[in-house]
Amino acid sequence: MEYKSVFDVMYPRFWELFGPGNPALFFAPGRVNLIGEHTDYNGGHVFPCAVSMGTWALALPHSERRIRVHSMNFDDRPPVVVDTQGIEYREEHGWGNYPLGVVRTLELHGYPLSSGLDLLFWGDLPNGAGLSSSASLEVLTGTACNELFGFGIRPLDMALLCQEAENRFVGMNCGIMDQFTVSMGRKDCAILLDCNTLDYRYTPLYLAGCRIVITNTNKPHRLRGSEYNLRRAQCEAAVADIARVRPLKTLGELTEQEFESLAGEIRNPVNRRRARHAVTENRRTLRAVEALERSDLRLFGRLMNESHISLRDDYEVTGPELDTLAELAWGTQGVIGSRMTGAGFGGCTVSIVEHQAVDAFRDSIAPAYERAVGYAPSFYVMETANGARNVMP
Ligand code: GLA
Repeated sequence: MEYKSVFDVMYPRFWELFGPGNPALFFAPGRVNLIGEHTDYNGGHVFPCAVSMGTWALALPHSERRIRVHSMNFDDRPPVVVDTQGIEYREEHGWGNYPLGVVRTLELHGYPLSSGLDLLFWGDLPNGAGLSSSASLEVLTGTACNELFGFGIRPLDMALLCQEAENRFVGMNCGIMDQFTVSMGRKDCAILLDCNTLDYRYTPLYLAGCRIVITNTNKPHRLRGSEYNLRRAQCEAAVADIARVRPLKTLGELTEQEFESLAGEIRNPVNRRRARHAVTENRRTLRAVEALERSDLRLFGRLMNESHISLRDDYEVTGPELDTLAELAWGTQGVIGSRMTGAGFGGCTVSIVEHQAVDAFRDSIAPAYERAVGYAPSFYVMETANGARNVMP
């Protein structure tokens, strides 16, 4: 949504729901991960960037001791209203658990809200499609509270607090990639993040006349949470097996050669494949960033394709919808590379496509995908963006 329509649409709705006042406006981007999937909670590297689709919030503190949150994306539901004290996870709060979890986590870390707060959200990220709509909502809430209540929390610490909110309050054991990118993103750059040490560097995204195209499978009913937590547990079991002969905390500590010599220690063959993905994907990510920094976009694209294959065969988080999109992209003129992005099990692919081939990419993939899967995909040509911020005080 352009600024003009944010003003046009969000302010009147805010006043209608919560009464008169002068709320501040905040924005948090979504993220697309270019390579390095399911490596963050394995102590490996990721290479995401913040995108210009994201979430907006109007926020206004007030003297009553209650928090009201409403989303224009779920406008048919009434606002979620809770007391500022004793916030807890409730099934019936639905999406509202994300912002409320952040408020509760801030409080647990010594940043209680000193008054009530009204929050109105609106976003243009497809929900639960692997572009971090949840992290965007979380970091947006944290950034608004930080600004309005003067907490002075640094963006990196805000990312960690929001990850904790998602892990402990919502119960999704996600890694740090999404909240980090949404909080720390920089326009025209991707971030190489070492999820073990949290060292990071920004890499300019010179794509030599290519565009980043996101394709949404539009798959309904993703079984994301339970499968995600299972993958994480499988990797932890693999680490425990290896640790009997070689002390280690995460798979990210192993080179590919070390992994090959230790793989036999992993008792369960499924866990062995999961671990192999984590180790090879970490290496691919570092090679891909080196390739991009040498302007070797072709190699970057090949590594993206290999990443998808590893996620399909070893990690088993793709499924027919994502595989169909990736395979169609690989067979399309002008595509440098294409892979699933985010947690998987549906959601989106990310493709690097030569600028002049973008229209043909859309026109050829849409009908072929629909024929294979039974419904249409959606396409977004991405712009990068800065991290979460106060747009208007
Ligand atoms: C989700 C999680 C991230 C990361 C990705 C997979 O987006 O929130 O922490 O694990 O899946 O790479």
